[in-house]
Amino acid sequence: MELSVGISGASGAPYSVRLLQALDELDDVKKVHLVISSNGVTLLKQEMSIRLTAKSFKVSQLLGRNSSKIQFYDNMNFYSPIASGSYPTAGMIVIPCSTGTMGAVAAGASSNLIQRGAEVALKERRKLVLVIRETPLSAIHLENLLRLSNAGAVILPASPGFYHRPAGIPDLIDFVVGRVLDQFDLPHNVGKRWGKK
Ligand SMILES: Cc1cc2nc3c(=O)[nH]c(=O)nc-3n(C[C@H](O)[C@H](O)[C@H](O)COP(=O)(O)O)c2cc1C
Repeated sequence: MELSVGISGASGAPYSVRLLQALDELDDVKKVHLVISSNGVTLLKQEMSIRLTAKSFKVSQLLGRNSSKIQFYDNMNFYSPIASGSYPTAGMIVIPCSTGTMGAVAAGASSNLIQRGAEVALKERRKLVLVIRETPLSAIHLENLLRLSNAGAVILPASPGFYHRPAGIPDLIDFVVGRVLDQFDLPHNVGKRWGKK
């Protein structure tokens, strides 16, 4: 399958990097179309010391290795394949998803490629997974989330559980990323499953 991944400017950059690593390793995933907002770039630097610019983007800076599977697009590139519903993908993941991006998608007001990709996923009835990160949530956030859920999006908050006794932050990251992969029925070993040794 082919998937789109958007990284927006919410806290949680490590979730996006871990997801890309996992997708890169999965045989079922043939291509990943990647878009990063300017604040997504800011958060990658703030939280992971990863320094990217659209012009000098290298997958190895994100993954620590090269990948021919990951295709990067500028967030204003509406000529990219994922800006059109005629290009077949299994859907899109926005991870982390800021309330700003979430609100724009809820309003159907796409002004960049992440928002357009999400809009396309909804209109084509493809899977759209929004890994939102904000707390507390206002009534506006909640109304937007309900609107998106009613339109078919999966709202998957970056909210790891603790019942599997995480040994550290990597376990918390894997908890969330594993749930994202589950949404696409991808067989994986990311994170522990309840009831499984
Ligand atoms: C250090 C930092 C942390 C932020 N954390 C969050 C966050 O957790 N959730 C959120 O919705 N926005 C957060 N923001 C605000 C968004 O980056 C901002 O609303 C931005 O306009 C979102 O644009 P984008 O969705 O195109 O990336 C943060 C901004 C900065 C600089």
